[in-house]
Amino acid sequence: MAHLEIRNLSKHFGAFVALEQVNLAVERGEFLVLLGPSGCGKTTLLRAIAGLERQDAGQIFHGGEEISARSPALRDYGIVFQSYALFPNLTVAGNVAYGLKSRKADRGVGREGVRRRVVEMLALVGLPGIEHKYPAQLSGGQQQRVALARALATSPDLLLLDEPLSALDAIERVRLRAEIRHLQTRLGVTTIMVTHDQEEALAMADRIVVMKSGRIQQVGGPQDIYRAPANDFVADFIGRGNLIEGPAVGERHVRFGKLMLRCAEPLSPGRAHRFYVRPEDICLYDTLDQRENSFYAYVQKHEFLGAYSLVTLRTHDLAEQPLVAQFSSNYLAGRPIAAGATVRVGIPPEHLRPLPEPA
Ligand SMILES: Nc1ncnc2c1ncn2[C@@H]1O[C@H](COP(=O)(O)OP(=O)(O)OP(=O)(O)O)[C@@H](O)[C@H]1O
Ligand SMILES: [Mg+2]
Repeated sequence: MAHLEIRNLSKHFGAFVALEQVNLAVERGEFLVLLGPSGCGKTTLLRAIAGLERQDAGQIFHGGEEISARSPALRDYGIVFQSYALFPNLTVAGNVAYGLKSRKADRGVGREGVRRRVVEMLALVGLPGIEHKYPAQLSGGQQQRVALARALATSPDLLLLDEPLSALDAIERVRLRAEIRHLQTRLGVTTIMVTHDQEEALAMADRIVVMKSGRIQQVGGPQDIYRAPANDFVADFIGRGNLIEGPAVGERHVRFGKLMLRCAEPLSPGRAHRFYVRPEDICLYDTLDQRENSFYAYVQKHEFLGAYSLVTLRTHDLAEQPLVAQFSSNYLAGRPIAAGATVRVGIPPEHLRPLPEPA
């Protein structure tokens, strides 16, 4: 049995289905990310694991024991919420010690033990010596580090994080996400984090669970989820993409208007297939380059975004809607392309990946 196992978990709020038959197995030491749009049930799932929300049906096992009906205090986890979760009237030391006092770890530790543990935890999150400050005197990032210290103070077997970074500015977010991942790897604590930010999920997770309307859509490593999305929703939610559709001609070719492109994966002859092409998989060639799967396109828009540009292309053969391509700025340095120009681009056969048919 996996370290944490969720079986057929369902939760309704009145007639509203927040979780529908959720099954999930989390391995010991794993960093699992629950990803999905607002309202898809991420927090509800996390709260059910914490015992803060009681499921209508299904079971939860932790370390081989069923904990489905246990009160939160009898479950072994630390939790960090989105924001403002520190007690404003307690000092940092008081906040970090709070978990110790209310949980099992306090037994036999004593006041000196608690004090030492607080010092140790603050050093762990990179904030030594701030014991006497109050939350209002700390930045958002510092508050979340203190919340993390509080959650980890009891050495919990499971760490639950509900959008711990979403209230922070972009730079602090990236910094703290690296710190959290580093700390988690060092401690080896099994972690489940909720986010609706796909980049955060890709950067941090061992495995990502993509959710929509209370149901799991796909579970897989960041590369799998990005490269081989299980359905349109996942493809669209994880990164940008272009959806194009055309009938297969033979096993390896697909027709888009007057264009015939080769596909590396086998197709069903005669049937219409849908393909999801990532912007970075579209190649830019020299105008006269007759590379396989290349074609002319009209540049509708060119957005410079620093490290790369997003280029909106029109090719009426391929699709009614424009195609978005991403080219690195280094690559574009010697080939300026402006709106109105005609360029030669291509989709290499291995990047023309058919999407699974909708169930
Ligand atoms: N106590 C409640 N009573 C009624 N409806 C609720 C309750 N808690 C959650 N819901 C509903 O259940 C759905 C899932 O909520 P949940 O908080 O799990 O979403 P989420 O994926 O965490 O979204 P967000 O990204 O916005 O935090 C939402 O539509 C929400 O309105
Ligand atoms: Mg939520």
